[in-house]
Amino acid sequence: MKKQGDLYYPTPEFKEKALANDESVYEEAARDPVRFWETRAEKLFWFKKWSKAFEHTPPYFKWFVGGKTNITSNVFEKNSLGWEKIRGKPAVVWEPEPLEEKPRTLSYEQLFKETCQFANALKRMGVKKGDRVAIYLPMIPEAVVAMLACARIGAVHLVVFSAFSAQALKSRLEDAEAKVLVTADGYWRRGKIVDLKTSADEGAKGTSVEKIVVVKRTGNKVAWTQGRDAWFEELTRNEKDFCEAEVMDAEDLFFILYTSGSTGKPKGTMHACGGYIVQAFWTAKLIFDLHENDVMWCTSDIGWVTGHTYAVYAPLLNGITSVIFEGVPDFPAPDRWAQIIEKHKASVFYTAPTAIRMFKKFAGDATQKYGFKTLRLIGSVGEPIDEESWLWYFKGVGKEKCPLVDTWWQTETGGILITSLPGVGPFKPSYAGRPFPGVKAVVFDDEGKQCKTNESGNLVLLPPFAPGLLRGIYKNPAKYEETYWSQYGKSVYFTSDGAFIDENGLVRIFGRVDDVLKVAGHRLSTGEMENAIEKLPQISECAVIGLADEIKGQTPVVFAVLKNATAAAVASPASPAAASPADDFKKKIVDQVRKEIGPIASPKEVYFVEDLPKTRSGKIMRRILRKLFTGEELGDLSTLANPESVEKIKQSVGLK
Ligand code: WT7
Repeated sequence: MKKQGDLYYPTPEFKEKALANDESVYEEAARDPVRFWETRAEKLFWFKKWSKAFEHTPPYFKWFVGGKTNITSNVFEKNSLGWEKIRGKPAVVWEPEPLEEKPRTLSYEQLFKETCQFANALKRMGVKKGDRVAIYLPMIPEAVVAMLACARIGAVHLVVFSAFSAQALKSRLEDAEAKVLVTADGYWRRGKIVDLKTSADEGAKGTSVEKIVVVKRTGNKVAWTQGRDAWFEELTRNEKDFCEAEVMDAEDLFFILYTSGSTGKPKGTMHACGGYIVQAFWTAKLIFDLHENDVMWCTSDIGWVTGHTYAVYAPLLNGITSVIFEGVPDFPAPDRWAQIIEKHKASVFYTAPTAIRMFKKFAGDATQKYGFKTLRLIGSVGEPIDEESWLWYFKGVGKEKCPLVDTWWQTETGGILITSLPGVGPFKPSYAGRPFPGVKAVVFDDEGKQCKTNESGNLVLLPPFAPGLLRGIYKNPAKYEETYWSQYGKSVYFTSDGAFIDENGLVRIFGRVDDVLKVAGHRLSTGEMENAIEKLPQISECAVIGLADEIKGQTPVVFAVLKNATAAAVASPASPAAASPADDFKKKIVDQVRKEIGPIASPKEVYFVEDLPKTRSGKIMRRILRKLFTGEELGDLSTLANPESVEKIKQSVGLK
């Protein structure tokens, strides 16, 4: 990219070959967004064409009404590049964590066969269209196979991040009433085996799960329940390698993905078959400028929506190669990620600001020795990226030639909705960019009036939204209406992000306006953490807030009010030989969060306080706690029920 004034534009070389390289695509979409998506949908395979492209009965809407399709037909036999052209080409390249282990490549044909075999195995287990199958797997090829196999037969997958705890798995299995759970005997993480099967067993206990399918990954010994557990390999070995695709209605439920909201319980976002395919295919094609020979490495785990859409479905729909990696990008050395880009000749690299900040800090110099000659385009997702990290990424990794797309979206939106197109621009560090063609993303003030240029407010989406936007919260329509469609009426989608739009039409996102944290790009709910901690009998109440962190963006901090007896014990001094009772109890709280949610939610700090600031109606004012640390004006405390609590907290936390 080249800088002109404050803005960056694609180089002439990039622009020349780019799939979209002028304003025409924006103009076409602005004239008639529904028609725009409709003509794009026509490029995909449908068993039967839709009768109406968009139907809106607020707050509900449908896309491609009456259309019939299947995502796996579009990935395999009916791929837009042509099956003959792609069948021998690598679909998935898997990089295991241990360096001594060889990568595994699956061609489209192999992936198709394995998908069909597992689809047939699922059918043999009694899984039917609409049944829920939970996938609790690490980043291994079988994870992709399992997702596609569900899609092939119309089973609804719910992928649960493999680093989530047994408890977190259990609540999802219960809510979704899953019939089958697919897991592994373990996986490698930072040189150690993580025993996934034990968590799977614990999570499945007492739920509706009838069968547990286990992929042999590490070969470690696992507990076995006869009749319920089966090895993936044994189940699939003798199955036929073809399975007919289930004909899916465009509005049939495709998958559920749980995500954190303001309140305690994770919400199951529901995604529909037809719209998701269209949005995944086209956003990836135009935003990553996908050409036939591209090799894309999206570093997100499949447990998150980014992994669903841009590590699995979108690259495969586009007939390109997707790299998936079992480990973490900085093990065994801080430049492991750079080695992977070079080794697998990635041309598109898509990662999160947290990773970028980590690369910059620990591998900044090492990065100079990598030429990254194969890279054409780099992307960022998941949280706001600061200008300094943006510039480092652009120079150190993109070598100033690759366009850098900062992409804004959410689990709810299914695919990217805001980012400038790489062949068009413009780009500006720390700005997500322009709304994708056809997307009406605007900023509203609290009264629902559209904000002026550069004026901050709430980011919302206006009809026709986007084909991939969620259709509901599983088994909870009230929550769906309340969370997304109540702030400005039933025709305005509320994103929960604060933003403004500048004079160039570029959207600047500054983060969540609700109690959702983004910790290392992972979406976590303060309410969920508080519920976990309050399960400890010694806790009377607590509040969790997110504080700024140099690498992770945000990190959780706990304020806990202890019951009297515990408070007294915790206040007693440490004996010279042992940790203090206070430290012991802090550890207990951290462990509780790890047990209930997972290690990614570990609080960085726990403070014991006497009381929490509350409104007269009893609502805990997390905002005030946050401001104590950021140094912002606290504002009028007189409306609190207990204004004196603030001063006491300051003292016990050691703040001035
Ligand atoms: C939240 C959604 C996007 C898929 C992965 C995360 C934040 C996401 C950006 C960006 C600033 C961003 C928002 C959003 N976010 N992308 N490019 N710039 N903030 O999906 O876990 O559902 O989180 O992530 O706050 O609401 P998610």
